[in-house]
Amino acid sequence: MLIHSASQLLTLAGGPQRGDRLGQLGIISDGAILIEDEQIRVVGTTQELRAAFPNEPAVDAHGKVVMPGFVDPHTHAIWAGDRSAEFELRLQGKTYLEILEAGGGIISTVRATRTGSLEKLLNETRPRLWTMFNYGTTTAEVKTGYGLRTAAELRMMQALIALNKEGPLEIVPTFMGAHAIAPEFRERPDDYTNLVVNTMLPILKDWWEQQAPYNSPPFVDVFCETGAFSLEQSRQILVRSKELGFPLKIHADEFDNLGGARLAADLGATSADHLVVTSEEDIRALAHSDTVAVSLPCTPFGLADPHYTPARQILEQGGLLAIATDLNPGTAWCESMQFAIALACRYLHLTPAQAIAAATINAAAAIARSETVGSLEVGKQADLLILNVADYRHLGYRFGTNLVQSVIKKGRIYSV
Ligand code: NIG
Ligand code: FE
Repeated sequence: MLIHSASQLLTLAGGPQRGDRLGQLGIISDGAILIEDEQIRVVGTTQELRAAFPNEPAVDAHGKVVMPGFVDPHTHAIWAGDRSAEFELRLQGKTYLEILEAGGGIISTVRATRTGSLEKLLNETRPRLWTMFNYGTTTAEVKTGYGLRTAAELRMMQALIALNKEGPLEIVPTFMGAHAIAPEFRERPDDYTNLVVNTMLPILKDWWEQQAPYNSPPFVDVFCETGAFSLEQSRQILVRSKELGFPLKIHADEFDNLGGARLAADLGATSADHLVVTSEEDIRALAHSDTVAVSLPCTPFGLADPHYTPARQILEQGGLLAIATDLNPGTAWCESMQFAIALACRYLHLTPAQAIAAATINAAAAIARSETVGSLEVGKQADLLILNVADYRHLGYRFGTNLVQSVIKKGRIYSV
């Protein structure tokens, strides 16, 4: 398949973009791309490619932007149940952590996810994955973390494997048994931490090896926060995970600065996420490491909180910045990376070009997939979007509607 005549073809070529380099779109005007099977074969101008491949089935992208599919590197897209009442409570003045403390929040989703069937979990999750896909996300990280018991967590993992197999959205799974202290352990958080460290993680390792559905192990993530896991508990969980060969992620500094970002940098985590109240020293430590800083602007927006990730500081220090939706039933029910880009332009003070790079090649780096997805380069997976606009700056500028006309996943075209 030859896609040609794109007003702008954004290649994002050249690998993840650190600090000031963020925003190199690698634009080819009147661009074209040749796809063979699941891969990108040639990238260039329309003139070059039409001359070289005159008989290839062609898709005319005249007046359209062609770009890599979005990578959403942080979601909790799989859950059962409903938390709309909690949104109303928050509007009446209850805080997110107060609701969690009172046994609501994450724990209410845990109750619904534990008690429902696998079928119910799949049926409630599937439409969200399709919405993500139709809004241009071609690869998404998805976390467990609403089971908080070995069997329930593995069942979530099993559901993620099944949903990935169904496609077309490609799922990169993360184990998040340490998303909250399980309700049975409310008064004994250290015991729950020990359960994660000594039981869940080793069982996950064996289970994963038998499943072997992926050629890489899942990530392990922990919610390092007041009311969830302390810095010390987070360290125990991540250190053990690393020993067992799992790549690491962390939820750090969403509400309180406990030092999770620094911990992530010290342990060589793939990413540290949220980063709203991160201290200057922690930003420096993170920015000087290979750990990707993942900002989730839909979350403060969803909580009507005026504080966002100090993204410009991260960039000034030379950090690797990505953005994600954080899609979840509590703080940010948002399937759209386009909306995350619009927020990133306004509240993280990124240009549209920077936000696009943060949502594609850098987002791929945040899930250790930058060799295969996140840019349009020869040999990479053919995951791309045709947008209904002629200039990439419409991403960011516009919000609340879908600018995607077609999504191409592993060389297969889906019209939106
Ligand atoms: O990233 N902070 C922890 N986890 C999610 C919220 C999950 C929930 O409320 O269900 C987040 O914001
Ligand atoms: Fe999260």
